[in-house]
Amino acid sequence: MFDFNYFTPTKVVFGKGTESRVADLIKEFGGRKILIHYGGGSVVRSGLLKRVTDTLDEAGISYVTLGGAVPNPRLGLVYEGIELCKKENVDFLLAVGGGSAIDSAKAIGYGVANEGDVWDFYDYKRKATGCLPLGVILTIAATGSEMSDSSVITKEEGLVKRGYSSDYSRPRFAIMNPELTMTLPDYQTACGCTDIMMHTMERYFTNGGNMELTDALAEGLLRTVKKNALILCKDPKNYDARAEVMWAGSLAHNGLTGCGNDGGDWMTHKLEHELGGLYDVAHGAGLAAIWGSWARFVYKDCLPRFKKFAINVMEVDESGSDEEIAIRGIEAMEEFYRSINIPTNLRELGIKATDEELALMAKKCAIGVGGEMGSAKVLNEEDMLAIFRASM
Ligand code: NZQ
Ligand code: ZN
Repeated sequence: MFDFNYFTPTKVVFGKGTESRVADLIKEFGGRKILIHYGGGSVVRSGLLKRVTDTLDEAGISYVTLGGAVPNPRLGLVYEGIELCKKENVDFLLAVGGGSAIDSAKAIGYGVANEGDVWDFYDYKRKATGCLPLGVILTIAATGSEMSDSSVITKEEGLVKRGYSSDYSRPRFAIMNPELTMTLPDYQTACGCTDIMMHTMERYFTNGGNMELTDALAEGLLRTVKKNALILCKDPKNYDARAEVMWAGSLAHNGLTGCGNDGGDWMTHKLEHELGGLYDVAHGAGLAAIWGSWARFVYKDCLPRFKKFAINVMEVDESGSDEEIAIRGIEAMEEFYRSINIPTNLRELGIKATDEELALMAKKCAIGVGGEMGSAKVLNEEDMLAIFRASM
């Protein structure tokens, strides 16, 4: 077990109707002039945005709004948001939506609180020294951005998708009403469940410092999401299943399931970020399309963890060699993805990549991770290309 820091400053307000408390929470955290940032319009259509602005009007809190954060949120809108905040003297950000709106808001927050080009942080050129305070009303259980220190932004030029992490961007509060996720298309619900599981699996398939308690939390979380994702396929309005998945989404990415380990593997995410950048796919679906190929490429170098996962999470038959059990676990995971209508390779994801495109993604990925990365197995550019090829 390794030493660790665990820092989760976000106040979670969870349950039915909790969005009605947004004005009180903004006041509690000192917000006086708000930028409400949202996505492509689902919060307008559902009436949530109107309810939020009505609540702020009643409380006498002034605000400006900026919509348009797309899945794989773009740098151009971040620049627009920064300008708007400076012009309007905004001192608090409220993201209403999913990971894309939240991440875009975090990037705007960095841009307002720091001089110079905000992309520098995502390009690993320098570190932020602050971020505007941020609150969240979450509408999709997926990224965990509502409690995480990360944000992922895509630069239009060169379609470069990069993440930046710092504690400054951890939201002050997160309002989580599982009912708000009931308007999601089934595909987005399933993509969210996939992403949640992957955030825990990235931390689980490691070769260092694993801790019994952390493993138990991780395995419990994975079993819970697996079970409730299947329930939501048949019964999307099931409140309890929505609630289980929503809370799992936050715990999967606030650091809890990584305490004591070596920081996690994260290569499936890095490879997906190339897919998301180039083909604009839904993040969860991109992860699932890569995971099986990644797992088969690395499992022999992380065999005890793959065996444990197969038995404790996928609950496979324990007969045979460790390798056989591990492969059975990988196959069971892929079968689970199929059962919730999530792709298990690039073809099923609808991508017909050329050799040049695969090579370009591997190259960009290697640059993005500084040459090589991974804990289950350290991967270089050649390995990344082999995984992309295998996922075709
Ligand atoms: O844009 P709108 O119109 O709101 O529609 C969204 C979008 O089309 C829709 N949606 C969200 N809530 C809804 C809804 N539709 C109906 N009813 C609702 N209640 O769902 C679609 C997906 O939304 P998005 O915010 O893009 O999804 P998600 O939360 O999965 O975010 C994905 C982004 O987050 C990044 C991903 O790479 C991707 O760019 N990630 C962020 C992380 C973080 N900050 O910690 C970690 C993750 O690993 C991930 O990389
Ligand atoms: Zn993710």
